[in-house]
Amino acid sequence: RKTAPLPDDIRARKGGEPLVSLTAYTTPMAQLMDAHCDFVLVGDSVGMVLHGLESTLGVTMEMMILHGQAVKRGLSRAMMVVDMPFASYEESPAQAYRNAARLMAETGAGAVKLEGGVAMAETIAFLVARGVPVMAHIGLTPQSINTLGGYKVQGRGVAADRLLADAEAVAAAGAFAVVLEKVPETLADRVTGAIPIPTIGIGASAGCDGQILVVDDMLGLFTAFKPKFVKRYATLGEQAEAAIADYSTEVRERRFPAPEHVFADTLPESKK
Ligand code: KIV
Ligand code: NA
Repeated sequence: RKTAPLPDDIRARKGGEPLVSLTAYTTPMAQLMDAHCDFVLVGDSVGMVLHGLESTLGVTMEMMILHGQAVKRGLSRAMMVVDMPFASYEESPAQAYRNAARLMAETGAGAVKLEGGVAMAETIAFLVARGVPVMAHIGLTPQSINTLGGYKVQGRGVAADRLLADAEAVAAAGAFAVVLEKVPETLADRVTGAIPIPTIGIGASAGCDGQILVVDDMLGLFTAFKPKFVKRYATLGEQAEAAIADYSTEVRERRFPAPEHVFADTLPESKK
């Protein structure tokens, strides 16, 4: 693939080879994943992962725009989706459009993502009708942590039908894909079979139409806690800490900088 897929290309992958995606917040990390991911999400998880916030509720439009711009500079083949932050879209379809259009115009994102099912269906339809492709996000929606009452599994038992209704509502409203976060495997499979758009799982099922993880989680860079659904493919945080410890020792023992890192007062004969 030479150019980024469009939201319709992502939608057309329903039932096919699984879609691959990760979050990214910076140019260098975006460059590393560009050739491997179908789309990259500038998630509002940036608030917790890079800014030390305790939840995603404090993330602002300005943060999403700055990180979106940085990620966009690192991508040439993957589509970029940017999260709409808390309180930037829930008030009304008009408010959502104003902020979604700003995110797309200022970052070059191909689509936005927002949290909510039935409650956000009208807003999704409003955006899509006006040129804003929308990825929905249902199940565990971290921006609603204060009404959900914690980061627990969503859609267990009698709540399953409500989750299915959310999925059907966002698909009918015109979302081109939907993230299913932290739902039982059997329910994720049921939803995947029931709706015409790709499901992107995180803590859901290998049967989803695609998967996403927070990149700092899967690289072992974010280690404050590890949800069950995270698989650590690397331990970069440990490696970074060991490197920093080595550096500090060498500085204190005057072993760094070494001869090869310092400059002579005059050019050597060979370079004259
Ligand atoms: O913000 C985020 O990282 C997300 C993904 C976990 C889907 O919304
Ligand atoms: Na998010």
